[in-house]
Amino acid sequence: MRNVVAGNWKSNKLLNDARAWMDGMSSWLAKNGGVDVMVAMPAPYLAACAPEAPEGLHVLAQNVSAEGFGAHTGEYTAEMLQSCGVAGAIVGHSERRARFGDVDAVVAAKVDALLAADLTAVFCCGETLQERESGRAEDVVLQQLQTGVLRIPVDQIGNVIVAYEPVWAIGTGVTATSAQAQDMHASIRGWLTEAFGAEVAESIPVLYGGSCKPSNAADLFSQKDINGGLIGGASLKPEDFQGVIEGHPALNR
Ligand code: PGA
Repeated sequence: MRNVVAGNWKSNKLLNDARAWMDGMSSWLAKNGGVDVMVAMPAPYLAACAPEAPEGLHVLAQNVSAEGFGAHTGEYTAEMLQSCGVAGAIVGHSERRARFGDVDAVVAAKVDALLAADLTAVFCCGETLQERESGRAEDVVLQQLQTGVLRIPVDQIGNVIVAYEPVWAIGTGVTATSAQAQDMHASIRGWLTEAFGAEVAESIPVLYGGSCKPSNAADLFSQKDINGGLIGGASLKPEDFQGVIEGHPALNR
C-alpha cells in the first residue's frame, strides 16, 4: 500500500514564498517517513524549485498540455516538466473541469501525456452537490474514471494516483464525513479491482480531497480505502500541512 499526501497551492504564493515553504518542510521531512509527500506548485516556480526540493518532497505541476510539442502557445508538455525535474502533475481538478475546458477527453489526453513521459498523474474526480443530491454521485465519478483511468494499460497504472474530491467540499470548509468519503472510496476501489485485479487495485493510492485539515485528517485517513489526501488551503503553511500528514496512520516518526 502506497500512502500519499499531496499539497495543491493553486494560484497562491510568490517564488520566495515557495522557497520559504520548502525550508519550513525540510527538517520535518528528514524526521518523518512512510508517507509520500508531494506538492503541486504554480508552473513558473517548477524549474527553480524542483531541483531545490528537500529530500522526501516530490514537486508536481498543477496542469500539463494535452498536446505534444508544437504550435500551442502557452502550453507546456509532460516532457518539459520532466526536463525540469518535476515528478508529475494534477489532472482533472474540478476547478479546471468547470472553468478551463478540461472535459473528460482532454483530461484523458493529459493523463496519457504524463504516462508517456513516465510521470505521475494525480487524477481528480468528484461530483457536484447537485449531482450528489440527485443520487448521481457514483455514476458521475465512475464516468470520469472510465474515460480517465480504467482504460489505462495495467503496466502503466503504477504512475496513477486517484484523488476523490467532492466538488461541494473543495475550499468550502464543508468536509465529507469519513463515512461518506469511505463509501465512495470503496466504490472506486471496486471499479479499480474490476479493471486491474485486486492486487493492482490495492496498490493504487486513492486520496481524499476537500477541506481536509489537521483536525479531520486522522479520521479520514484511518478509513480502509483512503490512502491519503490532496490538500488545498491547509497545504499553504508548512505547520498546517505537517499537521495533516501527522494524521496519517502510516507516518513513521
Ligand atoms: P481544499 O482544496 O483543501 O482547499 O478544499 C482541495 C483541492 O482542491 O485539491
